Amino acid sequence: MSPGRLNPWSRTVALTVLGRRVDLPENSTLLRGFEQLWPKAVSYGKFCWNHECGNSKVWFRLRGETHERRARACRLVAVEGMEITQVSAELRHTLRELLARPPDEPPGEERSPAEDTDPFPEPAFRDAR
Ligand code: FES
Repeated sequence: MSPGRLNPWSRTVALTVLGRRVDLPENSTLLRGFEQLWPKAVSYGKFCWNHECGNSKVWFRLRGETHERRARACRLVAVEGMEITQVSAELRHTLRELLARPPDEPPGEERSPAEDTDPFPEPAFRDAR
């Protein structure tokens, strides 16, 4: 992957893909940003890169929005706080490394140490004499 494929950028934007946080270069489309992070997986994906095949469909919400929009990752520019809620089957396969991670906690909902205790602890052994 050539860095020349990206538009000039100096910082990243944070967004979520099915609950997993990713940081993509600003001013780039989602698909170019994904290519930056997972070059091999994206290069093997069946993407036309020009809004024709439909294999890069995503459903998303912008920060503060409640309704979902639909777009194609080859045309949609990554924006801070964007929430990708659904992806096409091809993108799901391409992003399998990311999606293998458990979803991140939503901001402001960090768990307290008390919540990290095992809800189903092993029973303590009792002396059955
Ligand atoms: S890659 Fe074909 S429509 Fe986006």
